[in-house]
Amino acid sequence: MLAIIAALPEELSAIVEAARGEGEIRTETVAGITLMHATLAGRQVLLARSGVGKVAAAATAAILAERVTGMILVGTAGGLGPNVNPGDVVIATELLQHDLDARPLWDRWVSPVVGVARIPVDAYLTAALAAAAVGACSAHRAELSALGFGEPAVHPGLVISGDLFVATAEGSAQLRAELPDALAVEMEGAAVAQVCAAAGIPFAVARTISDRADHNATVDFPVFLNQVAAPYAHDLVVGALKV
Ligand code: ADE
Repeated sequence: MLAIIAALPEELSAIVEAARGEGEIRTETVAGITLMHATLAGRQVLLARSGVGKVAAAATAAILAERVTGMILVGTAGGLGPNVNPGDVVIATELLQHDLDARPLWDRWVSPVVGVARIPVDAYLTAALAAAAVGACSAHRAELSALGFGEPAVHPGLVISGDLFVATAEGSAQLRAELPDALAVEMEGAAVAQVCAAAGIPFAVARTISDRADHNATVDFPVFLNQVAAPYAHDLVVGALKV
């Protein structure tokens, strides 16, 4: 059974609604985290709203690790790559905690738990999400254009996570300078990655870009979150489950 995780209710709402249409949802609360046992695209899944940040995401992933055989994390992220714009989808190929620094004991960004800085994703789940992303982009093209976004694109690459909402040009420029191949920044992915890597559970991460992690982020993020994030996350997840 797969787990579907999103940090915010706005990111998970369309998925929960679709699951409700397929049958009863049984909820269970473990350590304050609500798990929803549901059917989605004809498959048994566990839906989980983690809350924001690496600690909340890691706690959720640890609880799920006892219950599922794979995890998919969806939601929004700030674009860092030069042509990674709001409305685009970033499919993580590896994830790194940009605020993890245990030097001089370990090299910068290395997670002592798993021994690497860049945690690789599961190829099969990631290919399913990448295939779904192409469909999700075309399904939302008109809506994105009406909101003033350009033609959406899919980018595979490095996603970085930290306990920071990056909302200044200086903050995103520093991340770009230190990690030039980072495509997107968010607050949960690498935490789920670390728990899954330690537990030997396959996982994948897809993020829709809501902002450019600059001073406009505080305006762009809520607009995207309220208008596009939910249906986008739904199409990515349901599309991937059907692959
Ligand atoms: N999630 C969406 N936008 C983000 C940003 N700018 N920084 C961190 N997480 C985000």
